[in-house]
Amino acid sequence: MSTFPETFLWGGAVAANQCEGAYLEDGKKLSVPDMLLGGDVNTPRTLLPRQDATAFYPSHEAIDFYHRYKEDIALFAEMGFKCFRLSINWGRIFPDGDDAEPNEAGLAFYDSVFDECRKHGIEPLVTLCHYEIPWNIVTKYGGFSNRKVIDLFVRYATTVMERYKDKVKYWLTFNEINVPMMDMGGIGSLYGLGIMEEEDIQSDHRIPLTELKGNKQRTFEALHNEFVASALTVRAGHEINPDFMIGNMIAHMTNYPLTPDPKDMLACLDVDNMCNNFCGDVQVRGEYPAYMWRYFRNEGIDTSFITEEDKAILKEGTVDMYTFSYYMTNCVTVHEGAEMTGGNMSLGAKNPYLKASDWGWQIDPDGLRYTLDTLAGRYPNTPLMVVENGFGAFDKVEEDGSIHDQYRIDYFRSHIEAMAEALKDGVNLIGYTTWGPIDLVSAGTGQYAKRYGFIYVDRHDDGTGDFSRKKKDSFDWYKKVIASNGEDLD
Ligand code: BG6
Repeated sequence: MSTFPETFLWGGAVAANQCEGAYLEDGKKLSVPDMLLGGDVNTPRTLLPRQDATAFYPSHEAIDFYHRYKEDIALFAEMGFKCFRLSINWGRIFPDGDDAEPNEAGLAFYDSVFDECRKHGIEPLVTLCHYEIPWNIVTKYGGFSNRKVIDLFVRYATTVMERYKDKVKYWLTFNEINVPMMDMGGIGSLYGLGIMEEEDIQSDHRIPLTELKGNKQRTFEALHNEFVASALTVRAGHEINPDFMIGNMIAHMTNYPLTPDPKDMLACLDVDNMCNNFCGDVQVRGEYPAYMWRYFRNEGIDTSFITEEDKAILKEGTVDMYTFSYYMTNCVTVHEGAEMTGGNMSLGAKNPYLKASDWGWQIDPDGLRYTLDTLAGRYPNTPLMVVENGFGAFDKVEEDGSIHDQYRIDYFRSHIEAMAEALKDGVNLIGYTTWGPIDLVSAGTGQYAKRYGFIYVDRHDDGTGDFSRKKKDSFDWYKKVIASNGEDLD
């Protein structure tokens, strides 16, 4: 008998902006990712706050899922997917974010996508906002730092929940809502909250995302507004269809103390609380945790934006499931001179026991079991789901067209084994959607070359490629895993 429950939701996950392309088609207008140029492992992505006709924007065509979704969903079905996580691009439904009426062409597109999933017996899991804030919301309203954007988001969310109430049961509000806590004002605040300082919006040159200006007070206010928008959406969603399962989504970057020095342990606790636990606690428990009130006092953050009415909304809008992305773990230390992880986003100190991907992301399957067990202890009554996990790598197409991605199979095998261990520990884990079942544009670097898929897409960072799809070795391997409900991992 399999360790995984019969109902386990095996599948894959993508985001609209990283796969759809068709960035101005059928009424859609610009959203944040459409403004970003590509970078690489050592070079941050850049942003010019207007369109540059001479530049190559990876999201503009992405992998052309907009026109090829039938072919792609058929391939997912061939692998036996039970679940497909995708996002609705807010800007297809309300192109400027504040339009008087929703865009029927955008609504019709997702009708067809969900119908296609259902036709193959695949359960859609829909993220309402996966870094896809309409650009107009950034420039006209200041993103989520403006309370009016709460209403605009809730109107969008309820429009699509109402429209797809018989086609979609599983919903997530904001992708990786905690990411702004990791850098307090750079890429996390722009992607996650749609906030940019006026000086940057007026810039006439390309700004590396690592150099975007941040403002702590504004970041916390905007994040609070997102919490409120998320809670109102959960509440409204349950009224639209009481069977909806609505979750949060956290980028879980589990941390270890680098040394046994108790000071490292406490520093690790602080980073974990701020970066991982804070947002989950608000969305699962419905209130700000005590350690954050202490932090606000210490940092002189004015918390008058957290009103009594908002507190009641947070309590009423707690999520039905806790979902998260898991790619790596990092170390924390108070000691100077520690080697840091590499890549264009260094997220902590290097762990001497772990290997890393070519982008410096440390590979730690045991950390997934640890994370699942810890989360189950923290939120004992809330089902968990891993909605992103994957291995970005350079793939080589052989002369005969085959792609031997054993490294990817190894990565997934070890992480699936870790989930099985967590299930044996009693964790209520309901599903697993791998990141990028098909190659897509990297969010962090904007590269095509950072490939995640079981399916290869012929598209490259210089804009060449015919978008054709090919199965990698991992395709048949994952098909076997799903068919055996996680038992056959050879
Ligand atoms: C997650 C995001 O952080 O990681 C995805 O939700 C992203 O959008 C994924 O693509 C992998 O990161 P990257 O930078 O390799 O694309």
